[in-house]
Amino acid sequence: MNAIDIRNKFLNYFKAHNHNIIPSAPLIPENDPSVLFTTAGMHPLVPYLLGEKHPAGTRLADYQKCLRTVDIDEVGDNRHLTFFEMLGNWSLGDYFKEDSIKYSMEFLTKELNIPIEKLSVTCFKGDNDAPRDEETARIWESVGMPKERIYFFGKDDNWWIAGDVGPCGPDTEIFYDTGKEPCSKDCNPSCGCGKYVEIWNNVFMEYYKHEDGTYTKLKQRNVDTGLGLERINMLLQGKETPFDTEIFKPVMDKLQELAKNDNISSRRIVAEHLRSSMMIIADGGKPSNIDRGYILRRLIRRMIRHLNKLGIDLGNLKDLINLNIQNLGEMYPELIENKENIINTILEERDKFVKTLENGERELQKELNKLREKNMDTLSAEEVFRLYETYGFPPEVTKEIAKENNFNVDLDTFDKLFKEHQEKSRLGSEQKFKGGLADQSEETICYHTATHLLHKALQIVLGEHATQRGSNITQERLRFDFAHPQKVTKEELDDVERIVNEQIQRDLKVTCEEMSYEDAKKSGAMGLFENKYGDRVKVYTIGDFSKEICGGPHVEHTGVLGTFKIKKEEASSAGVRRIKAILIR
Ligand code: SER
Repeated sequence: MNAIDIRNKFLNYFKAHNHNIIPSAPLIPENDPSVLFTTAGMHPLVPYLLGEKHPAGTRLADYQKCLRTVDIDEVGDNRHLTFFEMLGNWSLGDYFKEDSIKYSMEFLTKELNIPIEKLSVTCFKGDNDAPRDEETARIWESVGMPKERIYFFGKDDNWWIAGDVGPCGPDTEIFYDTGKEPCSKDCNPSCGCGKYVEIWNNVFMEYYKHEDGTYTKLKQRNVDTGLGLERINMLLQGKETPFDTEIFKPVMDKLQELAKNDNISSRRIVAEHLRSSMMIIADGGKPSNIDRGYILRRLIRRMIRHLNKLGIDLGNLKDLINLNIQNLGEMYPELIENKENIINTILEERDKFVKTLENGERELQKELNKLREKNMDTLSAEEVFRLYETYGFPPEVTKEIAKENNFNVDLDTFDKLFKEHQEKSRLGSEQKFKGGLADQSEETICYHTATHLLHKALQIVLGEHATQRGSNITQERLRFDFAHPQKVTKEELDDVERIVNEQIQRDLKVTCEEMSYEDAKKSGAMGLFENKYGDRVKVYTIGDFSKEICGGPHVEHTGVLGTFKIKKEEASSAGVRRIKAILIR
């Protein structure tokens, strides 16, 4: 039996029990900006769990494509996945605990032929919000589950809610005993040692959690279940990891064949991230520096770094994508339908990242030369970190190159800086990147430099009062707010545009120096938001045209900016005007 067989058995079983089969919703939720990706089967069904009538009735079943991003950095071990498929059956105010448990038990033991001895279950032990779920335990006993394999736990284990607010309720989880030795005499399904693997979660959704933390009963009692396909497939095949099953094996084997420096964790990362990137792209995702696009970019770049680590030529990427489409196309026909787009998107992102790596390497070589001149032999942790943060240059590559050039790297300090950074980005991702990510794509870097040119040009055309009041840059445009008492005329805008384009055509060199804030001001650098700067600042100089205090990064020569075009001039607030402009490159 393989994953497709299990999926089909599941859907057929529930069809035979009067469930309507609904299609998987896309990975990218429609009309739901509150989440990045569909994370559970119940997700697209929330309105119906709350009482809206579903066109397909009150008994539904499906397979749902899901993506969970909290554990991206854990992928590479023997179990974590970002993309996975959840098989689910739902009762929307129809059957409740009894039938739900009977269906699960029958499906597992009769359809999948799992011996009941392999199964144990957990139930909600009760608290101030909801009673102990004795009813569920009784039903389990009535279908043959011995009392000693029925456990009770609190909300952490046996209560399910998506996020902080919404439909929720006690759940009962079904665990598969792998047969491993117990970790202690208290070994149980919730201890996490790996002996017991959770396979199916049946949620009895009859509550709604409000923002103030209180619970009320829903209009109807629902059942929401989720059975992880990759996991049950792995267990039924007696494999230790999902990477040993047919879903990943062809790519894993190919990677092993191609690898010059094989390591299993890198192969898993490549195989996993390749699959999830392809699934996101098939559902309309594009790499970018925010939200969903940022996750996709991270997945692709991490995959490429690990291809590099394995010593696999990036020219093999297209074949790997094709191999994966061949392998997974029957399960996900959308991969076949979107083949061209998947290949083009991933290869384009690969090329961008390769450039990032080249820029980083050039910067690193400059730094090593400086150290050589000073007869120093250690590359500072701060420098390794700067290359990582500014150029996206992977620290392990920095370390490798430094070593090849006989330099030491202060790894302990680097690890500390890196942990702080990870903590920050973890916090960031929890807030769905609202805090604004450090966006270092080629496009935004160009817009940063164009903003400096615009700032100076405005001062030339309108006068020195036209200083910066705000700036907002995306990959698609720049937006610049500046002090000016009246509308900027068409002639003035034309002048500004012309001056900026002249500086681009002059291909001015952009240089950066570090100095004290006082020295920067003395040097005539434009400086803003004075209280934002520390004692030491970076000053970016663009040829003989502009000098500005700024954190960077910037392009090296203005020639790469293309053509600068003002799209809009408007009022921003009293005495402040706003310009939106683009670069045509
Ligand atoms: N919503 C529950 C889960 O995601 C069951 O489908 O585990």
